Amino acid sequence: MSSILSSIHGRVILGKQIGRTIGFPTANLHILSELPRLDYGVYGVIVDWKGSKFPGIMNIGIRPTFNDHSEVSYEVHLLDFNKNIYHEKINVDICFPVRKERLFKDVSELVKQIRRDVAYVKGKFLFMDYSNQNKNHFVNV
Ligand SMILES: Cc1cc2nc3c(=O)[nH]c(=O)nc-3n(C[C@H](O)[C@H](O)[C@H](O)COP(=O)(O)O)c2cc1C
Repeated sequence: MSSILSSIHGRVILGKQIGRTIGFPTANLHILSELPRLDYGVYGVIVDWKGSKFPGIMNIGIRPTFNDHSEVSYEVHLLDFNKNIYHEKINVDICFPVRKERLFKDVSELVKQIRRDVAYVKGKFLFMDYSNQNKNHFVNV
């Protein structure tokens, strides 16, 4: 990975569990390190969990679509990952911005946008050697 915007360390805590009902379960983070100085928005991230690296997409913000005036949340949706990492400590390298956090007119509009965000992030990570285990990708040739 050439450069990262910020790196955070945190523990996965239970969110409001809306994420899984909309098809994008997220690991909500209780940040143990310094808070990142980044705008509210969506970012491509690499998560290090127990020494393995996984690509993901992160939302930092107040989730205006749900209008519950909650505090700032840091939540990561891991791509193609279905392990339970509740309570685990993870490290998150925030690699690139995707877009600003927005207020959507309803949840289905948000879900459509998240699908586009995920496709964009997957496309970018396809060409990055984010993982030292991932020997199947043709990188650095
Ligand atoms: C990739 C991604 C992008 C998101 N973008 C927005 C957004 O622009 N606006 C918004 O209100 N919420 C956004 N969210 C937050 C969702 O509202 C959030 O995941 C949902 O409230 C579920 O949270 P919970 O699992 O903690 O209940 C985004 C979440 C993800 C994973």
